[in-house]
Amino acid sequence: MLGAPGVGKGTQAKKLEEDYSIPQISTGDILRDAVKNHTELGVKAKRYMEEGKLVPDDLMIDLMRERLKSDDAANGYILDGFPRTISQAEALEKMLDEVDSPIDSVIEITVDYEDLVRRIVNRRVCPACGSNYNLIDKPPRPDGSCAKCGERVIQRPDDNEETARTRLEVYDEQTKPLRSYYSSSGLLRQVDGEGSIEEVSASIKEVLQISSSLT
Ligand code: AP5
Ligand code: MG
Repeated sequence: MLGAPGVGKGTQAKKLEEDYSIPQISTGDILRDAVKNHTELGVKAKRYMEEGKLVPDDLMIDLMRERLKSDDAANGYILDGFPRTISQAEALEKMLDEVDSPIDSVIEITVDYEDLVRRIVNRRVCPACGSNYNLIDKPPRPDGSCAKCGERVIQRPDDNEETARTRLEVYDEQTKPLRSYYSSSGLLRQVDGEGSIEEVSASIKEVLQISSSLT
């Protein structure tokens, strides 16, 4: 899943995880867990994340090399938030070549940037089960608790307006070049992310069906 901060990568990856019974692998979620647990990776990543900058490529590539070896990834997975630079994309391609398991599709979700800032500042997440909410049309319970597990929902430390704008600039500079990278390899499928969550989900399924019928 490719797309700027707040386009709905996590929301849509979770839906695909249920529909296809393969795991969502979110580098953002892995890093947030590492920060929460004060691991060596978490200590190194925290500052970059809070500033809205990317965590260095070598850390991310090592992390993914290990994660993709896990048993739950044996039958496929949905990558959410990786790769995010050309170096990460090249490293991923090499890793997947080694195990003869190439990428099937790259879904790029697009949304106007002002809408993204609005979505990001209105997002709330459950720190216990990872459920995702927004104050506009998918709010948590009125008492601020998670509808799934009852924990109090929180705002991510990088979800303020200033950091959101930095994240969008970083996306333009470092991640957007992946569009032509994957377009030239014929893998890129673009989906308009402006509709409702259900409408975007239907568009993603449509392009995935088209991709699988082409292979
Ligand atoms: P990460 O956690 O990946 O954040 P991000 O890319 O900024 O994306 P978000 O998680 O903010 O948005 P999303 O696209 O998942 O949208 P969501 O579904 O939540 O990364 C965080 C940080 O970790 C990075 O800044 C970096 O520091 C580091 N990092 C991670 N990966 C890295 C890598 N590979 N290399 C280096 N550093 C890395 O939706 C957003 C909101 O909108 C939600 O509230 C949702 O409910 C709502 N929403 C979703 N869909 C719709 C819709 N259709 N209509 C209305 N609202 C919607
Ligand atoms: Mg996300």
